[in-house]
Formats: sequence, C-alpha cells, structure tokens
Amino acid sequence: MNAWTGSNREIQIQEVALRDGLQGEVAFMPTDKKIDLIDRLTTTGLKKIEVTSFVSPRAIPNLADAEAVFAGIVRRSGVVYAALVPNLRGMERAISAAVNEVNFVLSASESHNLANLGMTCQKSFSAIREAAALSDQAGIRTAGSISCSFGCPIEGDIPAATIKEWCQRMIEQAGISSINLCDTTGMAFPAQVFDYVRNFRDQWPDIPLTLHFHNTRGLGMANVFAAIDGGATNFDAALAGIGGCPYAPGASGNLCTEDLVHALEVSGFACGINLDELIHASKELTNLLGHETFGQVAKAGNRLQSHPNPWGFDSKHLSKTSPE
Ligand code: COA
Ligand code: ZN
Repeated sequence: MNAWTGSNREIQIQEVALRDGLQGEVAFMPTDKKIDLIDRLTTTGLKKIEVTSFVSPRAIPNLADAEAVFAGIVRRSGVVYAALVPNLRGMERAISAAVNEVNFVLSASESHNLANLGMTCQKSFSAIREAAALSDQAGIRTAGSISCSFGCPIEGDIPAATIKEWCQRMIEQAGISSINLCDTTGMAFPAQVFDYVRNFRDQWPDIPLTLHFHNTRGLGMANVFAAIDGGATNFDAALAGIGGCPYAPGASGNLCTEDLVHALEVSGFACGINLDELIHASKELTNLLGHETFGQVAKAGNRLQSHPNPWGFDSKHLSKTSPE
C-alpha cells in the first residue's frame, strides 16, 4: 500500500480554463459559449472557478468580455467565482462585477513582470496593496499569485528567498489572505516543490496555499504529489489542459483538471467532483476550440471503462480451451 492510499484528505481543485486557458487562444471564444461552459462546470462539484481576468483587452483580447461573462453566469451557492486582477482599474471592474475573489498577480521575475504587466515588481506590488484595501472594503476575498515562483524562462532560477519575501509582503504588508505559487512555464520539479510547500506551511500555517502547475515538461502530476507530501491541499488546473501566459516565452498548457481528478481519486483522495461530467465538459471545450488539447483521460476514458473485445472472441471460451 502506498503512502497515499486510504487517506481521507480532501483536495480542492480550482478551475482556471476560462482564464489562464483562454489567454493564449487566438480565436475569440463567443461570450455565450464561455457562459455555457462555466454554468456546466458549476454543476460538476468544483468549489472555485476562475471566470475571467479584468485586464487590458489589448493585452488579452480573448477576455475582453469579462463584465458580460460575469453578468451572464448562474452562480451556485458554495461556489467561489474568481477573477484575475493586475491593477486598480481591474479592481474597480471586479467590484462592479461582484466577483467573490480577486486573484492579484505579480511575478517573482522582474523581466517577466515587465513583459506581462508593463511595470516593475515593486510598482505591481504597490498597485496590489492599494487594490487589496479596496477589496477589503468591498468584502471580497483575496489571493496573491506569484508567477515564475519555480523559475523564469528569461532569468532562470529565482532564489527561494525572493519567493519567500514576496509571500511575506503579500501577506503581511498587503493583507492578502491566500497565496498561489505559480509555475508559469513548467520549470518546477518535485524536490523543489516539496521544499517550497513545506517551508510555506511552516512559516504560515493558517494561510491557504494553492499550487498552480503547467505541464510544459511533463512534471505537473509528479509535482502535485510532491506538494501533497509537503502539506498542500489546493491546486489550480485547467479543463483539457489548455492555457499558458502569452507573455512568458515557451509557456504551454496548465495541468489538466480531469487528469488531476482522476489521478487523485484513484490514489484515495476526495475531490468532490464528478469526473464523467468533467470529461464531457472537456470534450465540449475541445470541440469549441477546434484544435487538439492535452488531456489524457478525456481521450482514454475512466480507468475502468471497458472496451468491446476487438478480436471478436469470447474470453470465457478462451480460458476454457486454454491448455492447463
Ligand atoms: N482593464 C482594462 N483596461 C485597462 C486596465 C484594466 N485592468 N488597466 C489599464 N487599462 C487600459 C488603460 O485604460 C489604457 O487604455 P487606453 O489606451 O484606451 O487609454 C491602456 O489599458 C493602457 O494602460 P496603462 O496603464 O498604460 O497600462 P499598460 O498598457 O502598461 O498595461 C496592464 C498594463 C497591467 C493593464 C496590462 O499589461 C495587462 O492587462 N496585463 C495582463 C496580462 C495578463 O493577463 N497576463 C496573463 C496572466 S498572468
Ligand atoms: Zn498559469
């Protein structure tokens, strides 16, 4: 029996396909299709859905309809509808749209922050601090995403002390209530993930921590299990494994939600998500996008999904006639 089997631990998965997933899609997904997909995801058992971003429409054209999407979705009680916010303007838009949680973004890498947000890390942090005060007044939950936490495609490794310092400033100076450590271009590896999670849990035992992995180098799932070993319980993932930051060279898809739910449930964890419904939603998303996506389980089916015998013989008959 492995260390995970039989564990009662519950894992929360936060769906980011409609935000991170659509950032890099060239073709605009019609607003009504986004709304339909979110409404469908709402019924799968997911407890948090990142709906969109309140960013510049020039920076991310596919999310230019953020207000209309928020206005159109049917909200279910118990589900948190979140949105990414880069600055004060985004915060004001998020308040008007009555989002449940804002996800502030800052990169641990100066080069990536400049490319992605057009400002220095310090300027981003000042904007976040001001926006967090507004969020507090409006009673909206806050999360702080630290991009490139496990490495930057331009600068390489970012010192662990830098990540820790940004966590500290987000929590202690800006009053952000939860942290997302983001592996923007799939540079994280299991031993590093274990250390970062363990250190975070030791330092801030009461602050919720989410891990946001991209599967760029095929280590997404291994990183999840290393994070769980380190004490993590919250993960971002994207339906069909789509996604990636258009301002991070070499970025590719997020860890795939249905693959993650499958892997966790067969390992004895409870996600509270209906995998069949998720697979249906993933296929629908892939059809809408009109190109191949990265999920494995949507293609292969549930682990115990049986297939008709392609050779046409009866396996019972085979065992009777086999030599002893
Ligand atoms: N929502 C909508 N429009 C915004 C905005 C926001 N949150 N923030 C700024 N703008 C608009 C300004 O009003 C201005 O519009 P105008 O040219 O029509 O007057 C324009 O964007 C430029 O504003 P400026 O303050 O000079 O910002 P910028 O061009 O340096 O862009 C960001 C800064 C942060 C707005 C932009 O880089 C951005 O949205 N980045 C997000 C990228 C992203 O989502 N990456 C993936 C997620 S990690
Ligand atoms: Zn991402």
